[in-house]
Amino acid sequence: MSQQQALYIEHIEELQARTREALQREGLDGVVIHSGQGKRIFLDDNHYPFKVNPQFKAWLPVIDNPNCWIVANGVDKPTLIFYRPEDFWHKVPPEPNEFWTQCFNVVLLQQADAVEKHLPYDKKRYAYIGEYIEVAKALGFENVNPDRVLHYLHYQRAYKTEYELLCMREANKLAVAGHQAAERAFRNGESEFDINLAYAKACRQGDNDVPYTSIVALNEHAAILHYMQCDTLAPKESRSFLIDAGANYHGYAADITRTYSQNSAMFSDLIQAVDKVTLTLIDGLKPGVAYTDIHLLAHDGIAQILHDTGIVNLTPPDIVEMGITRTFFPHGIGHFLGLQVHDVGGLVNDDRGTPKPAPEAHPFLRCTRIVEPRQVFTIEPGLYFIDSLLRDLKASQASKYINWDTVSAYKPFGGIRIEDNIIVHRDKNENMTRELGLN
Ligand code: GLY
Ligand code: MN
Ligand code: MN
Repeated sequence: MSQQQALYIEHIEELQARTREALQREGLDGVVIHSGQGKRIFLDDNHYPFKVNPQFKAWLPVIDNPNCWIVANGVDKPTLIFYRPEDFWHKVPPEPNEFWTQCFNVVLLQQADAVEKHLPYDKKRYAYIGEYIEVAKALGFENVNPDRVLHYLHYQRAYKTEYELLCMREANKLAVAGHQAAERAFRNGESEFDINLAYAKACRQGDNDVPYTSIVALNEHAAILHYMQCDTLAPKESRSFLIDAGANYHGYAADITRTYSQNSAMFSDLIQAVDKVTLTLIDGLKPGVAYTDIHLLAHDGIAQILHDTGIVNLTPPDIVEMGITRTFFPHGIGHFLGLQVHDVGGLVNDDRGTPKPAPEAHPFLRCTRIVEPRQVFTIEPGLYFIDSLLRDLKASQASKYINWDTVSAYKPFGGIRIEDNIIVHRDKNENMTRELGLN
């Protein structure tokens, strides 16, 4: 038996235990988890790319097959209803025969709408977990995505099993290869479009395979936080390059960002400074620490850089106090990573889903939990020169402390983000991104 298979069996045991607890809390007999359905584009006969229900792919690495179902009660071997239509238009998946198959009683489903005969008879005692509420109601489910079940499962998703950690290391390995190829393409002066192709080729994943749309941004585009276009023409001069791109392994995500300078020492120094902040924050990420405090420490680090570079003529504590760091670092320091890029369960206080929202001054922070072993986070400080935010700063009382000439000198480079993926263990951190070779 492969290591992956052995760990997978333990993973299923853990999911069974979580399912038992969730069901007991809701007083139900089982869950029925729907992989999803194909979605047609409005007034068209084409479909959007299929995105599987994350609660489905938590159980098995089938991420490309709609109309599948898992029936689980946490005790008996779960049933997988696996969609395998007669279809000469599309590729039909083969009968399952992989490392995960033995963990399920597999039933093949030829017609999506014939699923009812395979589902439990007494649906009142089962919860439907999925997106298609009308389908659930039509089938006779009364409990649809019950809160107590979802809160519990989402909270527990933060604690990764060994199988999940293995998958996340593999996802990082693929993404690291992509990032290395993308840097080479940038050094060659290629366009954003061609850099994106180089990334895809090296990590063997296309636009619909990667866990989120890659951000491939040259020059000023690096100041657009979610820049998702790709210019097909190379700019006359490629000064800087920000790439935020991930990869997917068995449904688990990597989420990595790097920033490069072509030949500006000034911008290169700024990148080094942000890189140092990233590594310092990662050192501070340990069991017992509040993730919110890591975010606040990031503001101290960015303030120090704004001070050292002369961008702001104030002491670092004053820069933070006046809220100036939020102009240059307007997003959260990171998030849980897992089956979803922004994995669930970050903003709750307990497994009942009691909200623990981000602090008012930092609304984009995606995680406020206390750091614990087996959790996987991104740490991604940034420093950007964003027109709209700089305009607001210029109009504010703080404008007089800003060295606007220095800001103008940095603006053509857009901005910087350095993002690593970290497993927190009891006694050490595992920086997957660096340990797998991306500096
Ligand atoms: N790629 C999205 C993020 O870094 O959160
Ligand atoms: Mn991220
Ligand atoms: Mn990212």
